[in-house]
Amino acid sequence: MSVSPDLRVLVDPPALFHAAADEFVRQAHVAIQSRNKFVVALAGGSTPKGLYSVLAAEKDLLWDKLFVFFGDECHVPPDDPESNYLMARESLLCKVPIPAENIFRIPAEDPDADQAARSYDETLHKFFAISSGSFPRFDLILLGMGPDGHTASLFPEGKALHEKSRCVGHDWVEKFKTERITLALPVLNNARAVMFLVDGPEKTATLKEVLQGKQPAERFPSKLIQPSDGKLIWMVDEEAAGALSAQHS
Ligand code: 6PG
Repeated sequence: MSVSPDLRVLVDPPALFHAAADEFVRQAHVAIQSRNKFVVALAGGSTPKGLYSVLAAEKDLLWDKLFVFFGDECHVPPDDPESNYLMARESLLCKVPIPAENIFRIPAEDPDADQAARSYDETLHKFFAISSGSFPRFDLILLGMGPDGHTASLFPEGKALHEKSRCVGHDWVEKFKTERITLALPVLNNARAVMFLVDGPEKTATLKEVLQGKQPAERFPSKLIQPSDGKLIWMVDEEAAGALSAQHS
């Protein structure tokens, strides 16, 4: 049964980033109030950078109660320009008083991508104190969407998309000539909340297909993000939402 998405259309990217920051802070307060911690997985790519910059100025957050993981990573060292960790560190993590031990990056410097994925799997099992075969339950997972409908590093033709037992998969992505390490679908769909950040005209047709189209979901992995017991929020700007018909806009 598909989750009815909470779609929020903002006039432009700055408005989108501020609305996403408000939602992030609101969810952090709820989680810290009830569980004394907020466990989030950050997204990579370029769109989230705007949100991270807004959050970097956020004074009303108990940063020492935040625990930060990553939804996916390029198979590169943490100081590589392609690194999602580097982007998040420079735009947010090095600007806020979050303890270094609360940040769990994907060890993508490991020359063996499969070993990097296994190590991160272990880190998740230890942090969430879950047994093998179980999946962690994040408070919030941030995601972007590629023009091809991929999200995190779950690509239409990829094998990671079909990972059902491990929490972390990896894939060679021919079009980007790179290996990627990614949280698997069962982890993404086990979250209390998933928030997509999507802006710009290059995403308009894809967003239309993902939210209203009939093509098989495997072809647009963002369609497969259906939290089993959680919220699904789409924070998009008017340009990206430009082709949506009334039922959604
Ligand atoms: C990554 C992301 C990827 C990203 C989309 C959208 O590591 O690149 O996890 O899934 O979210 O490619 O990227 P943009 O935000 O740059 O359009």
